[in-house]
Amino acid sequence: MDRHKVKRQRLDRICEGIRPPIGNGPMPARPLVALLDGRDCTIEMPILKDVATVAFCDAQSTQEIHEKVLNEAVGALMYHTITLSRQDLEKFKALRVIVRIGSGYDNVDIKSAAELGIAVCNIPSSSVEETADSTFCHILNLYRRVTWLHQAMREGSRASSMEQIREVAGGAVRIRGETLGIIGLGRVGQAVALRAKPFGFNVVFYDPYLPDGVERSLGLQRIATLQDLLMHSDCITLHCSLNEHNHHLINDFTIKQMRQGCFLVNTARGGLVEEKALAQALKEGRIRGAALDVHESEPFSFANGPLKDAPNVICTPHTAWYSEQASIESREEAAKEIRRAITGTIPDSLRNCVNKEYLLLAAQWSSIDPAAVHPELNGAAAYRFAPGVVGVANPGLPEPPVEGMVPHGIPSVSHSAPHTPSPGESSKLEPDREVSADQ
Ligand SMILES: NC(=O)c1ccc[n+]([C@@H]2O[C@H](COP(=O)([O-])OP(=O)(O)OC[C@H]3O[C@@H](n4cnc5c(N)ncnc54)[C@H](O)[C@@H]3O)[C@@H](O)[C@H]2O)c1
Repeated sequence: MDRHKVKRQRLDRICEGIRPPIGNGPMPARPLVALLDGRDCTIEMPILKDVATVAFCDAQSTQEIHEKVLNEAVGALMYHTITLSRQDLEKFKALRVIVRIGSGYDNVDIKSAAELGIAVCNIPSSSVEETADSTFCHILNLYRRVTWLHQAMREGSRASSMEQIREVAGGAVRIRGETLGIIGLGRVGQAVALRAKPFGFNVVFYDPYLPDGVERSLGLQRIATLQDLLMHSDCITLHCSLNEHNHHLINDFTIKQMRQGCFLVNTARGGLVEEKALAQALKEGRIRGAALDVHESEPFSFANGPLKDAPNVICTPHTAWYSEQASIESREEAAKEIRRAITGTIPDSLRNCVNKEYLLLAAQWSSIDPAAVHPELNGAAAYRFAPGVVGVANPGLPEPPVEGMVPHGIPSVSHSAPHTPSPGESSKLEPDREVSADQ
């Protein structure tokens, strides 16, 4: 059978029962871009307003996304609080590009996205320093017990005699000479390694995906196996991306390979740690203390889940990345990436497309004419999207500048189809919600 026919059949199998991939043809002249899991588009609007209509959905699942967005959005911006599985992606009928406002993209099925003709991008530079600094706060906290000392003071403990000091500060450890084991030496892992050295940590790392030589340029010790890293580290800090191979990387079995009484820090992804096994190890003292910014189930609450009654654990609510500056920068970068998608070619004009290989493969399979794989997208007025049809922002207005189209928690089916106004006319999506027209 000829090669093209085989490829065609493979693609047909992939697409069986689903909508066909979105053709990489001309974009609407004024495409709809939607922020899926947020409300505030004030940073994005000035960057996009001349090339797109921007709306927000404030949704936590695709069931809460308005049909208009599902049918017409060409670009989507998203944080980590919504997940897009294949099933979710199939609901979008016109989507060409998704930009994760942040670095992790484990909440998007990037392979399925490519098969459906959707490019997925991230903002890899976002929050590297903040996340590394927060990680280091956690590490220092475990060693120097600041949070627990503060708690003890709040609860009325006294530390005036040596005996009292020993009791309240017991468990504090000298850092110099300790071994910090980094799992995943990417951007954040490296930034943590740089911070650890001046404190006197002996820094080792495990990352099977990095080429030889990184250890030389950073002056670190590379460990060949996860087991060896676990055995040799006094404090283990996770900085690998979550993928289909490392879910529950830290589990009952791997915890038993750790040094008795070591520390564990996780600011990467909650799915890397089996919390039930961690809680048990904390109770038994096999792990002396843990600090977690990310959790198996988010938003995290102590009340639910296995860590509820675990001792010596410090939790923060997936905020390691946050600073005002980082938040603004990543939103700007994300909006610029969407702009590049609209005004350039997908995927070639994109700076940080994380499924480019899959996209090109899917395009090959579908035997698209090579010229159509990278078409000029700009200026092709397939249809003109009437300004003001959906929520758009006037960047000059004070907060809250953006009116939305889908109020949080209300499924899209409960909305009547939005009225399409004539240009310049403002539209109403609900009887009492005015939506301003694009400027
Ligand atoms: N808590 C937060 O607010 C926050 C903020 C930023 C990033 N993150 C998360 O931190 C993690 C690291 O981010 P980054 O920007 O440094 O990513 P990155 O892609 O630069 O680095 C990830 C590294 O992990 C390695 N890796 C993958 N699987 C591994 C495995 N099984 N064992 C060892 N190494 C493995 C990769 O080779 C890569 O070098 C990601 O999971 C990201 O989502 C969290």
